[in-house]
Amino acid sequence: MKILIKNIKELLQVRPAGISKVSGAEMASLPKIDHAYLVLENDLISDFGSMDHCPPESGYDVIDAEGSVVLPTWCDSHTHIVYAGNRVQEFVDRINGLSYEEIANRGGGILNSAKKLQETPEEEIYNQSRKRLEEVMLQGTGAVEIKSGYGLTVEAELKMLRVIKKLSENYPIAIKATFLGAHAFPAEFKENHTGYIDLIVNEMLPAIARENLAEYIDAFLETGYFSVAETERIIEAGKQYGLIPKIHVNQFTAINGIEACVKHGALSVDHLEIVTDEDIAVLKDSITMPVALPSCSYFISIPYTPARKMIAAGLPLALASDFNPGTTPSGNMNFVVATACIKMKMTPEEAINAATLNGAYAMGLSDTHGSITKGKKANIIITKPITSYYQLPYAFGTDLIKQVIIDGKIIA
Ligand code: NIG
Ligand code: FE
Repeated sequence: MKILIKNIKELLQVRPAGISKVSGAEMASLPKIDHAYLVLENDLISDFGSMDHCPPESGYDVIDAEGSVVLPTWCDSHTHIVYAGNRVQEFVDRINGLSYEEIANRGGGILNSAKKLQETPEEEIYNQSRKRLEEVMLQGTGAVEIKSGYGLTVEAELKMLRVIKKLSENYPIAIKATFLGAHAFPAEFKENHTGYIDLIVNEMLPAIARENLAEYIDAFLETGYFSVAETERIIEAGKQYGLIPKIHVNQFTAINGIEACVKHGALSVDHLEIVTDEDIAVLKDSITMPVALPSCSYFISIPYTPARKMIAAGLPLALASDFNPGTTPSGNMNFVVATACIKMKMTPEEAINAATLNGAYAMGLSDTHGSITKGKKANIIITKPITSYYQLPYAFGTDLIKQVIIDGKIIA
């Protein structure tokens, strides 16, 4: 199928091939073509340019994008879309004064979701998760990373990863799977951390590798969860099976975890609500992408990642949703981008770069996703008529998406 999109008001994030991420001051620039056309052939972007050079329409399905902005779909590099049930009671408990930590200490939090997931059949988890995936696709997400981590037993972690695999087989959106067995210590291992890490290393990892269920490995490196040394053991074990680290770190405290992640060649370090000067120094000139999750900061009222300080230091930054039942029950990347602008003082250009190209990098997809580039995936958002792309973060909460195309397929 050949689609010609004509009369595009602004075609955003137009890049030559070979640019895998943007860092520091480069993030302020979002290359665009005004009054443009774009050609999609099957699942790929094949051509684009100014309307002055628009090809004749015959042989194409033509979309008239008069007044619309066209941009690459969002690349959401950090989610926990596969889960069972929800945690609405904890949400209300927090409104009534309990903290995230207090709820977790009394057996709520991740362990609450793990109990629900362990009790729910695989097919039911698939059906609940599929609805969330369909929702984010309609909101413009065209590539997504999904973690396990609400299983916490061999059987339940495998069940989650099989659901992720089935989603990736059944939907056109690119899905990357991450094994997060080290999300929390199950109650029976509270006093026996080594026992649970042995289970991850000796049983979960070999089983996951046998079925080829994950590409990345994650751990919740945090005070009260997995220590630096425990996380390093997990990273090293994952590497034996070719899994690349992408780590939850510095959400509540800074304990030199980022340094360990960078040392082990992590593809990304995610959360970073608390960032020290030392953390910034170790990230500089590394291959590790820092990932901010502003919807999480918003939902549980914790600090926002200090984007300005990090960008001023020359670092790249990606934005992701963290869609999960506890800290971020939303996968809406439009809200993520708006919140990054409003609360983290990122410019619209920086936020869009962070949620497209740098997001693609943070899940190993920057060769195929994240920009309008010939040969990349035909993944685009067509907005409703708007005055300029500034309106995307400005009119936060308004659905400004008219159409989403993923892998060359019109989603809505
Ligand atoms: O990224 N911080 C660790 N994990 C999730 C939240 C887990 C939960 O509360 O269910 C996060 O915020
Ligand atoms: Fe997370």
